[in-house]
Amino acid sequence: MRREDLAEVMAIEVASFALPWTEEMFANELVRGTLSELLVARLAGAGDPPPLGGYICVWVVTDELHINNLAVNPRWRRRGIAAALLECALTRGRDSGARAAY
Ligand SMILES: CC(C)(COP(=O)(O)OP(=O)(O)OC[C@H]1O[C@@H](n2cnc3c(N)ncnc32)[C@H](O)[C@@H]1OP(=O)(O)O)[C@@H](O)C(=O)NCCC(=O)NCCS
Repeated sequence: MRREDLAEVMAIEVASFALPWTEEMFANELVRGTLSELLVARLAGAGDPPPLGGYICVWVVTDELHINNLAVNPRWRRRGIAAALLECALTRGRDSGARAAY
């Protein structure tokens, strides 16, 4: 995730949660450093530029991965996007030393 993604991220966030994160909360995570990892899924073939289909926000704290946020655009749910984001975050967390995920 980059700052330029935040407009698309916020549209999904407010459509997904009764108490959405604010744009400032995402921006703070982006500058937090190695502790915080934010990944987006862009949908190749669904537009030019490819639209943002979903995102996941995690922290890796010593040997633990904490999943803090996960959402998918309501238009593209039940197509495996959340599963792909989770798998990517878990793989990267494992590579960084995580041995459990919460
Ligand atoms: C939860 C959410 C991220 C799932 O995204 P998704 O891309 O549709 O999920 P996937 O297609 O990868 O689904 C993987 C599996 O999760 C389960 N699943 C996903 N959505 C489900 C639902 N609404 N009800 C029951 N099971 C569900 C199913 O087992 C699914 O596999 P299947 O489609 O083969 O049955 C999405 O519905 C969402 O953004 N919801 C609002 C935000 C939210 O609740 N986030 C999680 C808490 S932070």
